[in-house]
Amino acid sequence: MKQRIFSGIQPSGNLHLGNYLGAIQNWVKLQDEFESIFCVVDLHAITVPQDPAELRRKTIEIAKIYLASGIDPKKSSIFVQSHVAEHSELAWILNTIAKMPELEKMTQFKDKSQKEGKESASVGLFDYPVLMAADILLYNTEVVPVGEDQLQHIEITRTLANRFNKKFGDTFIIPEHFVKKEGMRIMGLDDASKKMSKSAKSEYNYIALTDSEEIIRKKIKKAVTDSGSEIVYRDDPPRVDDASPRVEAGKPALKNLINIYSLLSNKSTGDIEKMYVGRGYGDFKNDLADVVVNFLQPLQAKIEAISDDEVLQILKDGADKVRPIAQQKLTEVKKRVGFVI
Ligand code: TRP
Repeated sequence: MKQRIFSGIQPSGNLHLGNYLGAIQNWVKLQDEFESIFCVVDLHAITVPQDPAELRRKTIEIAKIYLASGIDPKKSSIFVQSHVAEHSELAWILNTIAKMPELEKMTQFKDKSQKEGKESASVGLFDYPVLMAADILLYNTEVVPVGEDQLQHIEITRTLANRFNKKFGDTFIIPEHFVKKEGMRIMGLDDASKKMSKSAKSEYNYIALTDSEEIIRKKIKKAVTDSGSEIVYRDDPPRVDDASPRVEAGKPALKNLINIYSLLSNKSTGDIEKMYVGRGYGDFKNDLADVVVNFLQPLQAKIEAISDDEVLQILKDGADKVRPIAQQKLTEVKKRVGFVI
């Protein structure tokens, strides 16, 4: 029996290389090993101010990106969160065992509510982690592949599952997280200290999967690099011991660009360093732009080749496939809490 994984992406902002290399590319590999459910989490996307036309467009676009990237609906289930009403229902029930201080200390809530202005943050935004717990627990998920920034949400999912089990009897499987190695984190092009982000203020932070060649070249040209001129893969902090008199700072921005180069070209970071001995940032960035364009153009062609009708059918089939699992779990939960069925 294969273990089950569940993961999701919000249909908001522009999906970018960080999402692809950090999540989707990984999911494509995992779908052979695990029984996989991949969701477009539109209920989460409406926890911040949003534009309905944009939400509709992004929901379809993300599903197309899943498919174009190689998520195979014959192997995995792909569906839209709002198509399975049980997510909202379970979230409500879990709300009654979640505690205010637990949610108040969530860093994502603190960050996002600060961005919006504390006064206008919605109750939905506050409740985001409980809905995410419902997503995971509805399907007896054993493993959740996520980015490091989501670990706190997995932790509260485990807390809620344990609390429910203790109070009402064994109902939920306690899920584990699965985080890819640190080296795979893709950082912002304009600030290598933070993860590449689709909600970043500047579009020079990320390369969207749908960016044109011209924009890709422009963004890579503008990407920050570190001081110095050699192409070296290093981000260790400056060394101050006298054994290394040539004290050199790390190069986190360059390391990030080399990571992108390496992941998209299947060349090792060491090979890339060797290729650029004696050459400067200009050459390196030109080649990196080629690598990114050569990777994204075929992906974009695949995305465009999928029609809206086709993707809507796949999403409907996906929801039909997973709904019975969710219904069974929710019925069990309702009995446990004492609802008359
Ligand atoms: N919060 C996740 C993110 O921003 C998205 C998400 C929602 C999710 N529900 C989930 C991820 C369930 C994994 C499992 O990345």
